Amino acid sequence: MLGIKISQMQVNILSGVFRDKLGEEIVVRPLLPADRDKLIEMYRTLSPENRCLGLPPQSREALENWIEYLVSNGFSLIAECGNRIVGHVAVLPSNGNADLTIFVHQDYQNRGIGQFMLEQVIRFCRSAGFKGVTLVTEKRNVRAIHVYRKLGFRFVSSVCDCDMYLPLR
Ligand SMILES: CC(C)(COP(=O)(O)OP(=O)(O)OC[C@H]1O[C@@H](n2cnc3c(N)ncnc32)[C@H](O)[C@@H]1OP(=O)(O)O)[C@@H](O)C(=O)NCCC(=O)NCCS
Repeated sequence: MLGIKISQMQVNILSGVFRDKLGEEIVVRPLLPADRDKLIEMYRTLSPENRCLGLPPQSREALENWIEYLVSNGFSLIAECGNRIVGHVAVLPSNGNADLTIFVHQDYQNRGIGQFMLEQVIRFCRSAGFKGVTLVTEKRNVRAIHVYRKLGFRFVSSVCDCDMYLPLR
């Protein structure tokens, strides 16, 4: 996993509890093996207009394979409300950078959860020694771009999609 060791201090950086914009308590923490079914349920019930760049995969088998790929090649953080997983950020190391993918379930969007999770992940990536954070989105995804820009991401050259980068050093 990850290719780098994650210390307890770094796990602590990733874990946090906060109140979203509606006052609900949201727990943000690393994904555990026991969370797998709840994560699948989050993606299975994600509405089609919330898919981005063909993700998440639509068939159950492809979805399970994608999650397995993210888990075994990187590191994942989830947001939990009660017993439900409502957000997921996956980090995949690539050439010294951390490549990010994020989804927040439509029932919980616009409450500050995405921004909080990204802040935790960015702090983690900085402490873990990554050079920067990369991500790709779609030009029409104005909400995601708003959040990324707020956190310091800037556009880098791209042909058809939006490649964004946040240097950490
Ligand atoms: C993009 C996403 C991760 C953001 O997570 P979130 O929890 O909804 O985001 P937050 O609540 O932290 O922040 C949303 C921000 O966007 C703003 N926003 C909402 N709709 C907007 C719009 N149409 N245009 C511009 N900004 C918008 C909100 O006002 C808020 O900004 P503020 O805090 O400055 O007021 C989430 O909406 C999501 O999963 N979307 C679908 C999948 C996706 O696009 N993933 C990214 C793949 S690249």
